Amino acid sequence: MIDHCPTMRTTPASTLASPFRLRNKTVKNRFVVPAMGTGFATADGFVTPALLDYYEARARGGAGIVIVETTTVEFPRGIHASNKLVADTDLAIPGLAELASVIKRHGALAILQLNHAGRMGKTRINGIQPVAPSAIAAPGGQIPKALTQNEIALIVQRFGAAARRAEMAGFDGSEVHAAHGYLLATFASLCSNKREDKYGGTIEGRSLFLREVLQNMRHSTSDEFLLWCRINGREYGNDDALTLSEGQELAKLVAPYIDAISVSVRGYGSQSLVNYPDAPGALLPVAEAIKQVVKVPVIAVGRLSPEVANRAISECRADFIALGRQTIADPDTPNLILSGRTDDVRPCIACFYCADWGAKLDRPIGCQVNAAVGKERIYELIPTAHPRHVVVIGAGPAGLEAARLLGLRGHRVILLEKEPHIGGQLAQAAIPPHKDRLKPLIRYFSAQLQKANVEIRTSVTVDRQYVLDLKPDIILYAGGAKQIVPNIPGVDSHHVTTPIDVLYERVQPGKTAAIIGGGLTGCEVAEHLDQQGVKVTIIHPHDGLAKEAGSSERTRAIAHLSARPVTVLLRTRCVSISPEGAVVREADGTERLIKAETVVLACGVEPDNALYQDLLETGIEAHMIGDCWRPGLIATAVADGARWGHML
Ligand SMILES: Cc1cc2nc3c(=O)[nH]c(=O)nc-3n(C[C@H](O)[C@H](O)[C@H](O)COP(=O)(O)O)c2cc1C
Ligand code: SF4
Repeated sequence: MIDHCPTMRTTPASTLASPFRLRNKTVKNRFVVPAMGTGFATADGFVTPALLDYYEARARGGAGIVIVETTTVEFPRGIHASNKLVADTDLAIPGLAELASVIKRHGALAILQLNHAGRMGKTRINGIQPVAPSAIAAPGGQIPKALTQNEIALIVQRFGAAARRAEMAGFDGSEVHAAHGYLLATFASLCSNKREDKYGGTIEGRSLFLREVLQNMRHSTSDEFLLWCRINGREYGNDDALTLSEGQELAKLVAPYIDAISVSVRGYGSQSLVNYPDAPGALLPVAEAIKQVVKVPVIAVGRLSPEVANRAISECRADFIALGRQTIADPDTPNLILSGRTDDVRPCIACFYCADWGAKLDRPIGCQVNAAVGKERIYELIPTAHPRHVVVIGAGPAGLEAARLLGLRGHRVILLEKEPHIGGQLAQAAIPPHKDRLKPLIRYFSAQLQKANVEIRTSVTVDRQYVLDLKPDIILYAGGAKQIVPNIPGVDSHHVTTPIDVLYERVQPGKTAAIIGGGLTGCEVAEHLDQQGVKVTIIHPHDGLAKEAGSSERTRAIAHLSARPVTVLLRTRCVSISPEGAVVREADGTERLIKAETVVLACGVEPDNALYQDLLETGIEAHMIGDCWRPGLIATAVADGARWGHML
């Protein structure tokens, strides 16, 4: 084992603020923005103003290293989704030069991640058959073409040429993407590499392609250019998955060619979300295991909270801390942590919205909690020249974000809420099991509203006169949504209730419950009730649960639910509610009774804006924001709040 902290016994332990030397370059601190595809490039993969704004904001936020997202060495065969950057042509250099420059302007090292999609490529996106070590499809993917040795040699050269372009553009270095499910990772893994030539077999053979790539990149660039790779320290969920000891071997094999190593993981099947952990520091043991066998500095990743990150650095378990989703949610996170202002960090709620919209739905990324992603310049906070008195009605995500921004910009803001606490649908959504991750966001808003001098009045019954007495210049109505009540016999029985009443424990559930509706809310209420010992049946008319959710969020919800003894009836409608439970009709027309002491209506929500119509008659300027005019995700509510928060 290698002694990585020889100085620890004689000098104070390193901290997140400690500089680090990489070749002849000094990294100002230990924070890294890891590569994250944004979908902000042009269709041909060139740099756009949105991309420049996005990366400049991340660099301004204080990270020592900013790694620019997956950039292909072979367009279009090497992209896995639309609007991904390219570095396979000199035409890309001017745009990449601008990108490197906006990052370096803020004292961060600019690193370009180079990648080939391999079997993650999709004909529907690039019109070409994907390639791989062997003709084995990725889960849910197409059968790829197995690369010949000549084709491998050409791709090796492409990586070298792309690295040369990155250096010409002014990047400080390149990271080779050999992690997750892309081309180089599939060579390293026995799950996808069944070759019998020199590129297959033992981990030595399976890593040969990557080592040739790194060697070629080294020869194609100057001695000053930094070079490293991102690997899977291990894989999960498949009998042939890369083991941790193979991951360590892989790291040792590539170590002679690199200045650092970034350690991620990859999962299959039910483990497919393992590289996006919910629990802080869940992947740290893997990075630590790699660090134990190599001398090159290690970049760790995986929902690293400030506490976990600080300990990891001071205990020499990793050398750099990559903050992925957290720097999408709040690009200023490194600066805020380093200056001790952790209360001001807008927390990522680990919701998968960014990953689902980006990678899976093939759209530019967005963030549930940060409406300014890719619009950083447009959403710059500009103090108002004409302060006005704004009354915001409803302290859900739309009202909270609008009030926060309006207050910060110098308006006088009163925020009214009928519940005894702020949060609206956020507060409700934070109650089910596994949803604690939403609570920091409510705490964040609470702290920020104070700093923005917003007057908050909770437990208020708002009517037209109440608002008139406040004499506002403008009303923002964020009254939220209400449960849809289906038109079926028995729906107004005493044992019928709503998710909100269950979650806030305003009703005492019986020993058995039927949940009408298997959307995300229905699934979460089922988990909540099951945890309380209630025997639960979900009745859902469609052929799959939580279909309105993004694919990763749905995968997670179903995984949580499958771990519990909850009965799920798909393609089944509730046709009436009797004192004994819910009468259902199955797909073949059979009707039967599902016995339930409690029936929960989780059939979706509809706008709740009766008061708004009343307020319009006051003649005061009024606008609806959030769920009260278009029920949706936290993201749509926050985006509405941000729009009005900047517009007034
Ligand atoms: C929207 C999005 C895009 C990503 N794109 C890339 C990518 O281009 N290259 C890569 O190596 N990892 C990519 N990742 C993975 C992240 O770099 C990181 O490993 C992952 O988000 C876990 O870290 P976190 O918990 O700090 O978010 C992406 C993640 C997200 C959320
Ligand atoms: S979309 Fe969700 S997971 Fe992604 S950065 Fe924003 S809060 Fe985090």
